[in-house]
Amino acid sequence: MKITLIGFMGAGKTSVAKLLAEKLSLERIDMDQQIIQKSGRKSDQEIFEKDGELVFRELEMSVAKSLMNKNDVIIAAGGGLVMNKINVDYLKHDGIIIYLKNSFATSRERIKHNPPPLFKNEQKAKELYDIRLPLYTYYADGIIETDNKTVEEISEEIIEKIKTL
Ligand code: S3P
Repeated sequence: MKITLIGFMGAGKTSVAKLLAEKLSLERIDMDQQIIQKSGRKSDQEIFEKDGELVFRELEMSVAKSLMNKNDVIIAAGGGLVMNKINVDYLKHDGIIIYLKNSFATSRERIKHNPPPLFKNEQKAKELYDIRLPLYTYYADGIIETDNKTVEEISEEIIEKIKTL
């Protein structure tokens, strides 16, 4: 079984994946980190600037594919994963998808000091949020509301949720 955390930028996917992996004694994989490694760049920001978003999305897809047969793992996805359905199909193979759902305001607050490339323009980021929200919801096997909750609370809720799926 693999558990993939999806959600908008600033949803807390990386921090929750860390704690969840610890609690469940499972391996943790951060898709953004793997994408950056494959690209030979230093950050997602640098990939977007020097190679463009298309290259980032191609790398994201190849990382998603490489995880298809991976088991006993907690995966933190990037916020744009759901823009390509094939990514979701790869990760749903023997796996479940948990949507960490938060308001746009919460995302903005959490990442204001270090916004990812697609959050530099707040109006565009809000448009992306509105476009993606139904996709996260549609693809999720379970949804956890994360506004005003700690990483600890969210992780415990996920553990309870998984039992019911
Ligand atoms: C992206 C989110 C980022 C990263 C890339 C694109 C997006 O990940 O994958 O900058 O399209 O929402 P986080 O959601 O971890 O910030």
